[in-house]
Amino acid sequence: MPGEANLDDLFSVKGKTALVTGGSGGIGFMIASGLVKAGASVTIAARNQDKLDDAAARLSEYGDCVGVQADVGSPEGVDALAGALNEHLDRLDILVNNAGATWGKPLEKFPDDAWGALNAINVQGPFMLIQRLLPLLQAAADRDAPASVINIGSIYGFQTDVLTAYSYAATKAAIHHLSRVLARDLTPRKIHVNAIAPGLFPSNMTQFMLENEAVMEQVVSHIPAGRPGAPDDVAGMVIFLASRAGAYVAGAVIPLDGGALIAH
Ligand SMILES: NC(=O)c1ccc[n+]([C@@H]2O[C@H](COP(=O)([O-])OP(=O)(O)OC[C@H]3O[C@@H](n4cnc5c(N)ncnc54)[C@H](OP(=O)(O)O)[C@@H]3O)[C@@H](O)[C@H]2O)c1
Repeated sequence: MPGEANLDDLFSVKGKTALVTGGSGGIGFMIASGLVKAGASVTIAARNQDKLDDAAARLSEYGDCVGVQADVGSPEGVDALAGALNEHLDRLDILVNNAGATWGKPLEKFPDDAWGALNAINVQGPFMLIQRLLPLLQAAADRDAPASVINIGSIYGFQTDVLTAYSYAATKAAIHHLSRVLARDLTPRKIHVNAIAPGLFPSNMTQFMLENEAVMEQVVSHIPAGRPGAPDDVAGMVIFLASRAGAYVAGAVIPLDGGALIAH
């Protein structure tokens, strides 16, 4: 039975193995960096080899990190990534499905292509990766320290003011719900599935906002915390969910947005 624990132990991910998709930049890099610095052994996956190598080298200065090139928006890419992990690991404690894409166009011009492509990376990719990595997650699963799957959604999966990113909003709502559906199946197997729904974090995806001072001022004025998200905000949430401190959280969709949703 989990009792009253030493706090360092309660929030520890030391020695755990983790995969962070899209770990070469943005929120994925923030998460991978937090996990590596906290003593986890982290694999990051992304498509661009140079950026991946650079990120893995930077993270390796703090601990254990390797990069595996993969496109998690295709079944072949997911199979190759799962195959590489199966070769090198005998258990996976933490899977962070972070890689994602967006697409914004006015309603009348919104392209058909923006549906399949976004579903492939934002919804189907995370599902396939969980499915293919189940044996490794199962090997790490323990009643008092469950394996942890964390899907990165978005507050756009809740709100309606979505900057005409129609398929993005719909796929983010889908990954929130899929996380709950999978949690129902997997929690009894000691694999806890949760989702984090970030608000605004600086990254390539939000670069178009960051580089326009007037837009940024307007966006931040809608965030009660008065600032965008920072690396520690998302790293802290992931470490909480993946450590024993988060062992009783399952099927939750957690906004991480400085209060943006409640102010909306
Ligand atoms: N930034 C925000 O404010 C914000 C807010 C809410 C939710 N989110 C969510 O947070 C996640 C990360 O977003 P971000 O802002 O950090 O995005 P980003 O800056 O565009 O970074 C995306 C990362 O994912 C990788 N990636 C993209 N497509 C991939 C694919 N098909 N296969 C493997 N890797 C892929 C990219 O590397 P390659 O291009 O080399 O593959 C990169 O490492 C996404 O799910 C996004 O929807 C972001």
